[in-house]
Amino acid sequence: MPIEDLFRLIKSFSGNLVALTGAGISADSGIPTFRGKDGLWNKYRPEELATPQAFARNPELVWEWYAWRMKLIFDAEPNPAHKALALMEKAGLLKAVITQNVDNLHERAGSRNVIHLHGRIDEMRCTECGEIVRNEKPPEAIPPRCRCGGMMRPNVVWFGEALPERELGRAVQLCSSNNVIVIGTSAVVYPAASLPVYAKNNGYAVIEVNPDATPLTEMADLSLRERAGRAFEKIYAILKEEVSR
Ligand code: APR
Repeated sequence: MPIEDLFRLIKSFSGNLVALTGAGISADSGIPTFRGKDGLWNKYRPEELATPQAFARNPELVWEWYAWRMKLIFDAEPNPAHKALALMEKAGLLKAVITQNVDNLHERAGSRNVIHLHGRIDEMRCTECGEIVRNEKPPEAIPPRCRCGGMMRPNVVWFGEALPERELGRAVQLCSSNNVIVIGTSAVVYPAASLPVYAKNNGYAVIEVNPDATPLTEMADLSLRERAGRAFEKIYAILKEEVSR
């Protein structure tokens, strides 16, 4: 499908549209995804780095890994896909971005209504008092300490942990009452992967942008076999032009 048709389709939703994004949207910013040939889970074992048990066993190792990912993300730039979604929101074509990503590239691209289902790597939370601190760079000391003396942990959702209730509730509500464009997710991690089903069950459309097929492809009204950066660079250029007028 030509990109112009994707943009026509997006505009045809007249703002009744939300985006659900996964690691693939940040791949074109140089951030590794989790699955697939160069995925992080091919090099590292999630149970050693992304579980509460791993953190209890070896907080230094877990923090070294997150500090490495934080540096990757802080050194990266939003790509045309992040920027297009931000301009779509500004143009009233998109209500919100619901993301599984812990990076802050949507915010840095200019998106304002971003719902983080799996937390944020630029935040850390005290394991004692619950205080949340926003980081602009990786912490100096590993593991970082709270001013109350408690050990800080990355403010992200680890395997086996519940998603933040408010964010998940908002995501379900939005996906039950809007068309959903799903960008760069393998759609194998729940409950995020179930969100497009709410749209379909309520008579809304599901559009997918992913170079590979996923379990969502079958149910999607349209599945674009394309990298997000490429699929959205033209849309970004058109909207940048329109917004600058
Ligand atoms: N543009 C769009 N999609 C891409 C691109 C790209 N340039 N490159 C890769 N992809 C696709 C892959 O084909 C794959 O379908 O992005 C998807 C990435 O899948 P995963 O690596 O599984 O990432 P994600 O779906 O976000 O994982 C969900 O799993 O490990 C947990 O908490 C972690 O939030 C993450 C969750």
